[in-house]
Amino acid sequence: MSISALREQFPVLEHLAYLNAGTDGPLPAAASVAARAEIERQERDGRAAAHFERRHELSASLRSSYAALLGCDESLLALTTCTTEGMSLVVGGLRFTAGEEILTSDEEHPGLLGALIAARELTGVSIRTAPLAQLADAVSPKTRLVACSHVGWKSGCLAPALADLDVPVLLDGAQGLGAVPVDVAALGCDAYAAPGQKWLCGPDGSGVLYVSESMLERLEVGRRGYQNLADPNAGLGATLQPDARRLDALALSAETLACSLAALSVLADAGWQEVHSRALSLARRLAEMLDEHGRDVAPRAESTLVSFGSENPPAERACLAEQGIVLRDIPGTPWLRASVGAWNDESDLERLLGSLDR
Ligand SMILES: Cc1ncc(COP(=O)(O)O)c(C=O)c1O
Repeated sequence: MSISALREQFPVLEHLAYLNAGTDGPLPAAASVAARAEIERQERDGRAAAHFERRHELSASLRSSYAALLGCDESLLALTTCTTEGMSLVVGGLRFTAGEEILTSDEEHPGLLGALIAARELTGVSIRTAPLAQLADAVSPKTRLVACSHVGWKSGCLAPALADLDVPVLLDGAQGLGAVPVDVAALGCDAYAAPGQKWLCGPDGSGVLYVSESMLERLEVGRRGYQNLADPNAGLGATLQPDARRLDALALSAETLACSLAALSVLADAGWQEVHSRALSLARRLAEMLDEHGRDVAPRAESTLVSFGSENPPAERACLAEQGIVLRDIPGTPWLRASVGAWNDESDLERLLGSLDR
């Protein structure tokens, strides 16, 4: 499929200027067809051994598709239900003690903050913040983990180079995977948590977690069941899966898995390189257009998010929504945030600009 044909895969774009993938991506028609087919099969055939075998096969295919995208071995990937779950598996699985600290930035999303708060309450570890750009220099002898966004959710800033740190790094990839190229080896992170429902255009309740081999060895796993045990029928002697499957979500439905796979294959067919470069160049273009229009563009980097000033962000968001333009406001900031994907085109950007007051 050519990149220009990609747009036709998304029915929502026929009537909306959809600029909200940073919240939830547009759903390709093929993904809803795949989910419906799974539901209809269950309705028709019931859910017995073949159904569980089907879920198992879909999980294996999805894990290999994520591995191809992330450029890592599939044994290092867990299937999760969202970014937040992946981050909490990592932060909650490390044995912190009082007197140690986790270093994070001062612009993190509640999805990461929740995991940090839980660790502080449960272990006594302290949490220290520093500006995202200065994180590498802020590491102290007490730091046991650096946890921050790969791409900041408020304005699309990028994490600084953290590969040379000698403490483990957890990256929140909610605004990264699918939006910008992700090479976990080059990023030098020990864990990368990402959603399926945002820039990968999959269903709610999907996601992936990468962990390095050394991180996998260190993580305690606080939950066990049929899904993440190697020999679930071994009674109390059952042991965890030997690889990152031990971190898998305990109940992913066939419809979620099939929907995720179909969405990934729509994007992969268009070509990941093209998907990334088109989205990044359209986002750059939107930032220029907003600037020419007299709107303040928030500090950003080479990402697919463009945040810009608004006198009343919630009211302006609602007003734009009435005109068929979908984006979001960022609580606690004077900004509206547009998420620009390869499925968008200049007409979406012009529609937004045409509806903005100066
Ligand atoms: C940077 C960041 N982290 C985490 C999340 C939460 O993602 P999820 O719903 O996949 O847990 C979001 C969602 O908007 C986000 O932007």
